[in-house]
Amino acid sequence: MNLRSPRLIPAAAALTVLCLARVAVPQQKPKMAEDVFKNIQVLKGTSVDDFLGTMGIMSAAVGFDCSECHANAGTDKVDWAADTAKKKTARKMVLMVAAINRDNFGGRQNVTCWSCHHGRDRPATTPSLETVYGPGSQEMDDFLAQMPGQPAAAEILDKYIQALGGAERLSRLTSYVATGTSVGFGGFGGGGQVHIYGKFPDKRTTLIEFQAATERGDSIRSYNGRAGWIKTPLAVLTEYELTGSELDGARLDAQLSFPAQIKEALGNLRVSVPATISDLPGPSSQTSSDPNTGIGQDRLVNVVQGTGPKGLLATLYFDKESGLLLRMVRYGKTPIGRVPTQIDFADYRDVGGIKFPFRLILAWLDGRDAIQLNQIQTNVPIDDAKFGNPVSVKGK
Ligand code: HEC
Ligand code: HEC
Repeated sequence: MNLRSPRLIPAAAALTVLCLARVAVPQQKPKMAEDVFKNIQVLKGTSVDDFLGTMGIMSAAVGFDCSECHANAGTDKVDWAADTAKKKTARKMVLMVAAINRDNFGGRQNVTCWSCHHGRDRPATTPSLETVYGPGSQEMDDFLAQMPGQPAAAEILDKYIQALGGAERLSRLTSYVATGTSVGFGGFGGGGQVHIYGKFPDKRTTLIEFQAATERGDSIRSYNGRAGWIKTPLAVLTEYELTGSELDGARLDAQLSFPAQIKEALGNLRVSVPATISDLPGPSSQTSSDPNTGIGQDRLVNVVQGTGPKGLLATLYFDKESGLLLRMVRYGKTPIGRVPTQIDFADYRDVGGIKFPFRLILAWLDGRDAIQLNQIQTNVPIDDAKFGNPVSVKGK
């Protein structure tokens, strides 16, 4: 469908009016999974974005793709609402996990699908002696505490600000437009044209257009300082407004694109022990041994964690040597556990005295985008429509 077709323009105008009206009238109730989907029994009261996150958690935890619980997923014969035996088991597991946490951990989400399953459909029950005598688990806790002997978070953040060009220059950054190309995981949608728009303090939009395959539709993530939207081609829901923890995640992404405010974007900052991080394993289109196109292997990093609104948790990994931010992992909250989103930053280049990462690799539970920017213009005027819903983003 052509988003600019005249039939849709009144709808877009109506939406704009609605958005403006929202400031004055009490906020309308956000859409929950049960308002949008047909057969929600145990995950009622979950926002649509967080609900889709729970599907990612389930798939990752048991090592399934969607089609193992939803017959014919990935084809146009799929009926997501239909129950399968595995889906029914998964429902029971959701209730079981809630009961374990309620009865034993005061309702804290200490036990999740991952605690038992670890990527297997049937959890292992007995330690093998190979595991007992093998290398220990490298998994990190989600929650990190301030470790004694580590520098204060402010020191690491100051070094980062200095490495980017200094607080004074950063404070003069009010907007930017970046252009480049993207490659999806496994080369899907290869050759997308990327536009990233940012406006201080917290507006950000990423638009990926696939000109070689227009029937595929654009990919859009937008946030206007208050509301956010996501449009992804080939997904269960191709377009929706964010109302759950993805909204808080989108705000954080937008705020961190203007790093002068990094100290205010997250609260309760704490520094864990230094760690080593590497490029995510995967297709060569997304990683590389070339230090310019990926973060590389075994980079020693300072680890800073902070907390945002409604339980949002974010861990930032700063290169020990250069001080630059190499990775952010932010976690959204769902009824069955946290949903991780990771953004890797590399190929930092100077634009008018400020360093910007020209390489961004976004990874979430069921997709990855690798973006290579080729141009960034700073302090250019950008129409606020570019941060609205997908119709508004595409409008001229
Ligand atoms: C381990 C099993 C499992 C996997 C894997 C799984 N789901 Fe689900 N899915 C469920 C369960 C259980 C429900 C029903 C939740 C409820 O009753 O509250 C559900 C419901 C849904 C619904 C709502 C359908 C409706 O109209 O009621 C959608 C959409 C959905 N899943 C999409 C996905 C996608 C996309 C994936 C892959 C990323 C996926 N699921 C992977 C178990 C699974
Ligand atoms: C306390 C441990 C534990 C937790 C937590 C747990 N499971 Fe399970 N799960 C099991 C065990 C054990 C089995 C295998 C039961 C069997 O073999 O009959 C299983 C089986 C399953 C199966 C069926 C697999 C198959 O191949 O038939 C699914 C699907 C599943 N779990 C999903 C989940 C989901 C989704 C969650 C999180 C909401 C979860 N489980 C949390 C222990 C757990």
